[in-house]
Amino acid sequence: MIADRKDDHVRLAVEQQQQHHGRNQFDDVSFVHHALAGIDREDVCLATGFAGISWRVPLYINAMTGGSQRTGAINRDLGIAARETGVPIASGSMSAYFKDPDCAGTFSVLREQNPDGFVLANVNATASVDRARRAVDLLRADALQIHVNTVQETVMPEGDRSFASWAPQIGKIAAGVDVPVIVKEVGFGLSRETVHLLEDLGVRVADLGGRGGTDFARIENGRRELADYAYLTGWGQSTAACLLDAQGAPIPVLASGGVRNPLDVARALALGASGVGVSGTFLRTLLDGGVGALIDRITTWLDQLAALLTLLGARTPADLTHRDLVIHGGLREFCADRGID
Ligand code: FNR
Repeated sequence: MIADRKDDHVRLAVEQQQQHHGRNQFDDVSFVHHALAGIDREDVCLATGFAGISWRVPLYINAMTGGSQRTGAINRDLGIAARETGVPIASGSMSAYFKDPDCAGTFSVLREQNPDGFVLANVNATASVDRARRAVDLLRADALQIHVNTVQETVMPEGDRSFASWAPQIGKIAAGVDVPVIVKEVGFGLSRETVHLLEDLGVRVADLGGRGGTDFARIENGRRELADYAYLTGWGQSTAACLLDAQGAPIPVLASGGVRNPLDVARALALGASGVGVSGTFLRTLLDGGVGALIDRITTWLDQLAALLTLLGARTPADLTHRDLVIHGGLREFCADRGID
């Protein structure tokens, strides 16, 4: 049954990508153009560092899948693409592995294809410390993602309805594993208050996982005849809003959710992200064009990201935070409501 759900998620996420009209709140963020700010391409380095982690590039393939035969094949291709392009990669939720150890290979293939890369394991916030350790061990993971997805659980008839234990359990997992823990939302966003709570719980990094791309309320509604919670579509804060909300956060933040192109990556970095994750867009490229198309796409994104830094006069991703930005429209209203300067 988990395997069917994983296949449904892939199918519906790709359908959503095909129907996507393109606009999201990253469009409310513009760089002020300074015509003579540019530097030389050879002086640009894409490396990023946060919470003791060093990445050669500030872009990663975010959590998606595993647990069924089909999604194991997808993970194999994602692992190959990560190896060939040098981007870090996260596994999808490893709950299926705890229920059925026979599907271990559909996750561990990520590491087999990518022996030297940066790999993140992924568990939910109710996982025991023992399971979290097993997830890290299976992938020889460099870090552990814990996903928080209360909206998705609410929309799922079979979903969890007991959320009170999630925060303390996250604290136990963070204390009990010996790799850095990253807590991520799955597309509804982490608020400033949540990021502060995560720091108190001993979490090293927050992946803001905001609205604007893959919408799990719509995906779960799409899995059944009666879309009971259709009105929850659009719930949460956009990734750009989360980044503005988390200015001055006590722990480093990553940005994901609705990242459509290299300009969105640059915008997210300029708004303070230490790295930027992509799921839906890359999944669609893989399923439409195969692993070669995904490798070409990621290579192009990295090349264009370096070109944007050159144009903007930023030697590193961190340097982008000093560029002049203009915030428009609904995003500006969000900032006013939340008291953000
Ligand atoms: C996801 N995502 C996800 N996240 C997670 O932490 N564990 C998981 O198992 C999954 N599963 C999953 C399946 C599929 C098919 C997709 C497309 C996504 C959520 C993902 O990591 C990300 O937070 C959201 O998809 C938002 O980013 P994009 O898709 O807008 O780039």
